Amino acid sequence: MAKMVIMDHPLIQHKLTIIRDKNTNTKIFREVTNEIGMLMAYEITRDLPLEDVVIETPLVKCTQKRLSGKKLAIIPILRAGLGMVDGILDLVPAARVGHIGMYRDHDTLEPVEYFAKFPQDIKERRLFVVDPMLATGGSAICALDLLTQKYGVDPNNITFACLVAAPEGIKALQAAHPDVDIYAAALDERLNENGYILPGLGDAGDRIFGTK
Ligand code: PRP
Ligand code: URA
Repeated sequence: MAKMVIMDHPLIQHKLTIIRDKNTNTKIFREVTNEIGMLMAYEITRDLPLEDVVIETPLVKCTQKRLSGKKLAIIPILRAGLGMVDGILDLVPAARVGHIGMYRDHDTLEPVEYFAKFPQDIKERRLFVVDPMLATGGSAICALDLLTQKYGVDPNNITFACLVAAPEGIKALQAAHPDVDIYAAALDERLNENGYILPGLGDAGDRIFGTK
């Protein structure tokens, strides 16, 4: 089983409280979501491999470290995943960005895919699939099914990162994709009867884009 990490950094907890608050407006919600994305990027990139490189400082020749290994790609699940992308790109500006368009049917809660576009060399890259909410897990599972089954990506090269996870979603995602690392900024209590996370933050897409 791959890693399951709940981030309990004080800055992340503080910022999550801001976006959970129903009185937080769209502008602040969007800004803070990106800030959390950036803080999460610091942690989800912790295992990136390094190699030695010889450089000269103004004083002396020396051996230092630089990133090596696979190039990176961020894959937001639309729409809400877009809200984390700029924050992550602040830390890894050279990463490519692929998109998976998916919405959850309001009645069945089943994910419906409507768009997919990836960098050509997706199989060669280390992927960070991002979506603020992991509720039933249906959307994340469907996105990872697409990447691993249709595009042949090795699940060991994928990390899934979300802001708020429900226990139900984590369980389902781990069962479907046991080799994918999962990072969440918070593990909440449960889903309500409509498949919303409690206490949660409401509908992430609507709050990021101001559509409700
Ligand atoms: C939300 C969220 C996830 C999904 C999580 O998207 O951003 O993609 O629901 O729910 P699940 O784990 O039960 O699948 P939504 O369907 O509301 O689409 P949107 O991002 O376009 O608003
Ligand atoms: N999608 C959201 O945006 N919020 C939830 O609580 C569950 C699914």
